[in-house]
Amino acid sequence: MDPAAPLLFFDSGVGGLSVLAPTRALLPKAPIVYAADSAGFPYGGKSEAELAARVPALLGRLVERYRPRLAVIACNTASTIALDQVRAALDIPVVGTVPAIKPAGELSKSRVIAVLGTEATVRQPYVDDLAARFAADCTVICHGSPELVALAEAKLAGDYVPLEDVRAAVAPMLAAPRGGEIDVVVLACTHFPLLCEELAAALPGVVQVDGGAGIARRIAYLTQGQPWPLAPPPGLAVFTAPPPATLAVSLAQFGINEVKLL
Ligand code: DGL
Repeated sequence: MDPAAPLLFFDSGVGGLSVLAPTRALLPKAPIVYAADSAGFPYGGKSEAELAARVPALLGRLVERYRPRLAVIACNTASTIALDQVRAALDIPVVGTVPAIKPAGELSKSRVIAVLGTEATVRQPYVDDLAARFAADCTVICHGSPELVALAEAKLAGDYVPLEDVRAAVAPMLAAPRGGEIDVVVLACTHFPLLCEELAAALPGVVQVDGGAGIARRIAYLTQGQPWPLAPPPGLAVFTAPPPATLAVSLAQFGINEVKLL
């Protein structure tokens, strides 16, 4: 194993940074390539067929170019739709993102939980299967919110996120039958942990769970015993369409100091 071989993170936009952060905390020496399919953003509004064609092809190109030791699909939408195809197409380990319904089912006292994701994620049978397996005695309220995805992008680009916009985005979820009893919300889109303070203000008393820490542990397990560089190089971000220049400040906070176009 080449110590310089990076970990490759993939998302439609900045959401995967919420998976990158706990991974860097566990593996501070890991070289990082963060890839954002900004030309295809947002994924939540795309069809299954579009994503099943787009995601494996892009990851194939990225793996060819950057020779990562492992790829992380840091996107629930892409994982719930294309993980199997990506795994079949690549000869490196691929870690996906699974909605954290299991811990939510364990934590909920009211037995009413919410799954907040993209429109594409919350309509996947995979989500219903997880709910049936791990939260069978819970009322599970699923809500897809493209608005929150856009707000997370805006926040990281340095824009102010009005709390009333976050409140409006989660209002349909709270208005669903038994919505007022939700005590745990699964952040089933990697963009949403980037709005955790705003969501805490909009959903007071509701526990937020996401898969970031679990994915980081999985990556650490799969790379156990592998060599890392003595001093890791600065992280690289690769975009498929030019990002806003103002994003550089947020990227630097995640250890990414170089931006390229694919
Ligand atoms: N971050 C993504 C997810 O976890 C996708 C957001 C989008 O592009 O709609 O689902």
